[in-house]
Amino acid sequence: MKIYRTKDYNDMSRTAANLISAQIIMKPDCVLGLATGSTPVGIYRQLAQWHQKGELDFSLVTTVNLDEYKGISPENPQSYHYFMEENLFRKVNIDRSRAFLPDGTEADSDDACRKYNQVLHSAGTVDLQLLGLGHNGHIGFNEPGTFFEKETHCVTLSDRTIQANRRFFASEEEVPRQAYTMGIKSIMSAKKILVVVSGEDKAEIVKTAFFGPVTPQVPASILQFHADVRLVADEAALSLCDIPSSGRLWSI
Ligand code: F6R
Repeated sequence: MKIYRTKDYNDMSRTAANLISAQIIMKPDCVLGLATGSTPVGIYRQLAQWHQKGELDFSLVTTVNLDEYKGISPENPQSYHYFMEENLFRKVNIDRSRAFLPDGTEADSDDACRKYNQVLHSAGTVDLQLLGLGHNGHIGFNEPGTFFEKETHCVTLSDRTIQANRRFFASEEEVPRQAYTMGIKSIMSAKKILVVVSGEDKAEIVKTAFFGPVTPQVPASILQFHADVRLVADEAALSLCDIPSSGRLWSI
C-alpha cells in the first residue's frame, strides 16, 4: 500500500484528483468505480474544473458507483444518483449511458442486485476504484461483519451509519434503513484502489483499518491484501499512524 500524506482537505482532493486524472489520460476508455459522501466532493470539483479548462475528457469513460439507498428515486436530492449528477456528471462530458449506479427504485432486492452485478460484469474490470472510509471501517455500505466474498447485495445500515448520514436528511426517520452496495469481492477485483480520508475524526479508523489485523469486523482492513492500493489522507487523518513525520509518500 502507498500512503500519500497531504496537508489538508484541499491538498487531499487535488492529489486524489491528479491520480484519477492520470488514469483517464493513460486510458481514456477506462472504467472508474466512484463513491459518494463528503470526502470526494472536492475531488469531483477539481476534476470538473480540469474538464471545463479542456484538460480532461470523460467522453469514453465508464463509471460504476458503489452504492445507492433502497427506496429512493434518482430525482430525490438525497439519492446517490442525484449526488453524482450534481457533483460530477452534469459538469463533465460523460456519456450517461455509461454511468451506472444500483437502482434504488427496484423494490425486489434480489433483482436489483442481480441486475447491478450484470452491469458490473459487462462494464469489465474496474481500472481505478475510489473509496471513502466509514467511521466503523465500512467501504461502500459493507458494514462490519460482512463476508469478504460478497458481490452486490442489499444491506441494513448500522445505527452508526444511520447517525453519520443523518446530516444529509431533515430527520433521522428519513434516513433509509437499507441500501444496495457493491460487495467486497467486487471492490477487491478492481485493478487499482484509491482510498481518500480526511479529518481527525477518521484517525482512529485509519490506524485500525490499515495497520491493524485484517478482519470482517473492519471491512476496509481487507484492502491490506490488495496489490495496488493508494491511501490519500490528510495529516489529521494520519495523526495516529506510525509513519515518518516528514515526506509525502510511503510504501507499507
Ligand atoms: C459512499 C460510500 C461510503 C462513504 C463513507 C465515508 O458511496 O460508499 O462508504 O465513502 O461512508 O463517507 P464520508 O466521505 O461522508 O465520510
